[in-house]
Amino acid sequence: MNEPERLQKVLARAGVGSRRAVETMIEAGRLKVNGQVARLGQRVDPSKDKVELDGSSVPVAVDLVHYLLHKPVGVVTTADDPEDRPTVLEVVDLERRVWPVGRLDIDTEGALILTNDGELTQALTHPSFKVEKTYLADMKGSVGNRALRLLATGVELDDGKTQPAAVRIVERVAGGTLVEITLTEGRNRQVRRMGDAVGHPVRRLVRVSIGPIGLGRLKPGSFRRLSPEEVMTLYRVTGL
Ligand code: URA
Repeated sequence: MNEPERLQKVLARAGVGSRRAVETMIEAGRLKVNGQVARLGQRVDPSKDKVELDGSSVPVAVDLVHYLLHKPVGVVTTADDPEDRPTVLEVVDLERRVWPVGRLDIDTEGALILTNDGELTQALTHPSFKVEKTYLADMKGSVGNRALRLLATGVELDDGKTQPAAVRIVERVAGGTLVEITLTEGRNRQVRRMGDAVGHPVRRLVRVSIGPIGLGRLKPGSFRRLSPEEVMTLYRVTGL
């Protein structure tokens, strides 16, 4: 348990706005503490009180961290690899204990969240929350309408038919087709298996976004802290 602190101080530290801006939010009735409209001068315990702004949780616990990593190819997502291959935790090399949210296979690169936020991890990985993940897949050959329709409506895989997906052709490339695929489920090597099933094996796969969080210009092997606004939007899409 932490010492109670003034709400405006806690929220300013969380990056929501200056203390003055937070006071204005309190006066406007936009903030709640544990479900009750906040009062000016109110003190909160950031380690246990739930703070909401406009109905969305605000990450106030001082020790919660959220990073976005551009996972490079050749790195495993597990914390400890029996084959001793490099892991994502070695790429970020943080002092604080964090873990990857979900998985990307060793050959796949792109957006991966690392955090010590257990609730958010649960929400992002639980199938019932259906958070959209978008991939850019370089698929071998010329992907035509039939294959595209199959990818979109559902492909029969050995662990069952895939859920409907949003798919579109981004461009034709040498010997292949760049296809954007948005999934709401995350089975093992799903995009690669979908590509195999429609006769267009995936040659390169990049996850470009997780819900509202896009990879942007982050280079492979680089990572950055998510902003409080980004964490709040993740809380919002997962209903936290
Ligand atoms: N689909 C894949 O094939 N691999 C991943 O890592 C994620 C989705």
